[in-house]
Amino acid sequence: MFVSDLLKGQTIIVTGGGSGLGKSMAQRYAELGANVVLAARTFERLEATAKEIEAKGGQALPVAVDIRDPEACADVVRQAVARFGAVTGLMNNAAGNFLCAAEDLSPNGFGAVVDIVLKGTWFMTQAVGRQMIEQGNGGSIVSILTTYVYTGSSFVVPSAMAKAGLLAMTKSLAVEWGSAYDIRVNGIAPGPFPTEGAWAALVPDPKMMEEEAKKHIPMKRFGEHSELANLAAYLMSPMAGYVNGTCIDIDGGEWLQGAGEFNRFVEMDRANVKQLLGAMRPKKAK
Ligand code: COA
Repeated sequence: MFVSDLLKGQTIIVTGGGSGLGKSMAQRYAELGANVVLAARTFERLEATAKEIEAKGGQALPVAVDIRDPEACADVVRQAVARFGAVTGLMNNAAGNFLCAAEDLSPNGFGAVVDIVLKGTWFMTQAVGRQMIEQGNGGSIVSILTTYVYTGSSFVVPSAMAKAGLLAMTKSLAVEWGSAYDIRVNGIAPGPFPTEGAWAALVPDPKMMEEEAKKHIPMKRFGEHSELANLAAYLMSPMAGYVNGTCIDIDGGEWLQGAGEFNRFVEMDRANVKQLLGAMRPKKAK
């Protein structure tokens, strides 16, 4: 789909880049020629991913960071510049989430998610934005959002609130930084993409989840990491030079199926549906 040096000359910071979807996106960026900076809490995991990338001929710098600390975020940027000379892209992928009934959430539980997702992502975005502004060559910032930024969701209220805040950040900065500094700011709203971390935190019964997916997702399956990684690569690339301030859904149509008034008919046998609808059709007068 892409030429092999699509991202050559770019340096992209990927938060949560040591595992899961962050790792898949970082690997794709490196394959397409970008230098990647893997930034997350567990250094050993980052180091292992960096080694895998370098073994395939890529350039990767692992940096331990807790994005809740704004100084530590600024330091990631400093280390990226020291090694690669500039920062041209940021993939905000790191997050924290768990399932909990809203009435049972403690203040700390609420804060744990909002501090990582909303504040942490902002600290990283601001640190990278300041660097891009100083460099004067624009840049691309992409955040992993979620389809429940539109709908909200039960049992993940802090995450829904924080991610909706990031959608507002995306749209705000797309104009503020787009117009003055040529920095594009976009989001990606993924549906279910299996990863060890997210599945452990969010999927009580994987078998049931798979069966449900077949019923509730028009494409009848989970997403593949490569599908998300290719979208993430496109948004970082010059091919997306006119894409700014938007959020692209990649969920097989899942959230729309849940939202449409008459969409429950798609979960029924099609011949039965046609029979039901046919029976409702007024007879033509002879
Ligand atoms: N249900 C209810 N409350 C929970 C909880 C759960 N499953 N998990 C954590 N909490 C609460 C804790 O009880 C604590 O509140 P308290 O002090 O009132 O008891 C508070 O959250 C902080 O917990 P702690 O373990 O110290 O949080 P942390 O900052 O180390 O971790 C999390 C943050 C909770 C988001 C953790 O799950 C995390 O870091 N996850 C990262 C990976 C991840 O979530 N991946 C999935 C992304 S889709």
